[in-house]
Amino acid sequence: MHIRILGVGAGGGLPQWNCGCANCEAARSGFIPSMTQSSVAVSGDGIRWLLLNASPDIRLQMQQTPELHPTGLRKSPLSAAIVTNGDVDHVAGLLTLREKTAFDLYATPATQSVLSANPIFGVLDRDLVTRRDLRLEEPFAPVSGLTVTAYAVPGKVPLYLEDDGFDTGPRTRETGEQTIGLRIESAAGVFHYLPGCADLPAWLCSRLEDADLLLFDGTVWSDEEMPRSGTGKKTGARMGHLAMSGRDGSLARLAQLKGRRIYIHVNNTNPVLLPNGPERAAIAAAGWELAQDGMEITL
Ligand code: MLT
Ligand code: MN
Ligand code: ZN
Repeated sequence: MHIRILGVGAGGGLPQWNCGCANCEAARSGFIPSMTQSSVAVSGDGIRWLLLNASPDIRLQMQQTPELHPTGLRKSPLSAAIVTNGDVDHVAGLLTLREKTAFDLYATPATQSVLSANPIFGVLDRDLVTRRDLRLEEPFAPVSGLTVTAYAVPGKVPLYLEDDGFDTGPRTRETGEQTIGLRIESAAGVFHYLPGCADLPAWLCSRLEDADLLLFDGTVWSDEEMPRSGTGKKTGARMGHLAMSGRDGSLARLAQLKGRRIYIHVNNTNPVLLPNGPERAAIAAAGWELAQDGMEITL
């Protein structure tokens, strides 16, 4: 199985256009690597590729990934895409994938209805881009050599679908069709992909135990990170993202896993981005890696 990390950043990327925080400034000055927004490509045979989320940066990401370059006149190695939620950083890149090349677009019925309700996604010609309902817990093969099983994980609806009086408690960690994890299996091994996850109950920790590779939500180091840094009012929990640190954070909750563990979907406020800080040392000591744009992984 071939995996290419196209983008590590959470919504906004690094640096974010309007942000002068220490991390964004460090990225502008070249002290730390920039991050495009959340997207991964995976292939079983190195020929046909499956896109996992389509970020607003997809055009640049594909340009920087030779495996995804056209193989002929108007012919692409990209043959299918799955979106794991309806967030802007995961669907806006679909608009770039117009231009009349066929591929299969998989999402849960709930996320498909979000796309269908928005006429701008009609730029994806329905005669070529086949929208397929992705059924939870039903394995399928979107490209040859890869078997994908989608499962519900705790999460919330996209920000733009929050209604007036959105319940900022339980509705930020609902387990349903709006936020999914993916288990991707080939003859080489098992890869779990969870770029957004609001909680790690015991059933989910157990479910991840068969992962040879886990790419997991690394949005924030601490729940209070945005309010404390003055970059925003929302906590990680309010945004539907479990923090890395803390008693119930992903570092503690996933300490028993044996496979390779890598954080992705990292927000520009996360202090783990600083290479010499205690947060980076803490994830390394716990056996975690931090993804980088362009990273290649082979199972
Ligand atoms: C998220 O992951 O919380 C969203 O992508 C935030 C956003 O839409 O900017
Ligand atoms: Mn996001
Ligand atoms: Zn910033």
